[in-house]
Amino acid sequence: MSRVFLEIGFGGGEHAIGQSELNPDVGYIASEVFENGLCSLLSRLVPEGEEDTATPPPHFRIWAEDARLLLKDMPDACLDQAYLMFPDPWPKARHAKRRFVHPENIKQMHRVLKPGAIWRVASDHPVYQEWVTDVMGKQDLFDAPPPAKERPEGWSPTRYEAKAFREGRVPFYWTFTRRP
Ligand SMILES: C[S@@+](CC[C@H](N)C(=O)[O-])C[C@H]1O[C@@H](n2cnc3c(N)ncnc32)[C@H](O)[C@@H]1O
Repeated sequence: MSRVFLEIGFGGGEHAIGQSELNPDVGYIASEVFENGLCSLLSRLVPEGEEDTATPPPHFRIWAEDARLLLKDMPDACLDQAYLMFPDPWPKARHAKRRFVHPENIKQMHRVLKPGAIWRVASDHPVYQEWVTDVMGKQDLFDAPPPAKERPEGWSPTRYEAKAFREGRVPFYWTFTRRP
């Protein structure tokens, strides 16, 4: 595979499956630490009773640990796209360091993405929306235009997005472009 995409925190796996189906010629690495999420994705890839016959997509890989460990060991400029869909917001100010969109992780994302590659981020949480706007506004590693307020074409729905709609929140959808 000459192109590779990475998803950080796939939750139930709906978006990972959706994007990997839209991009069958791309290596897709889906990461998640939550065991229920891993089981949910695995049961979509290999339905119960079909363990002996199911053929999971050959271009799909699961990283069942903290995505930051994987990022740390990845070579420079190896990814063509990355997704961070509805990350945990850690809304309390004293937990802000745990937010994935954070200067240290932004540097790492810049290192592993190819020049011109896209990093998609979505959030429905007002604290996180403000945080991303602020943090990305202060960096110069990515082009960071204002977010879309409707899911752009070609993005796949997620479980957390559906919950946000049910509860009346408006997600922000950012498309960051890795600068050379
Ligand atoms: C709020 S949920 C959103 C799940 C999914 N993206 C969605 O939109 O439905 C955030 C997920 O990210 C996972 N997560 C948080 N930090 C992570 C990390 N460093 N590496 C991998 N997964 C992570 C959590 O376990 C959780 O399932």
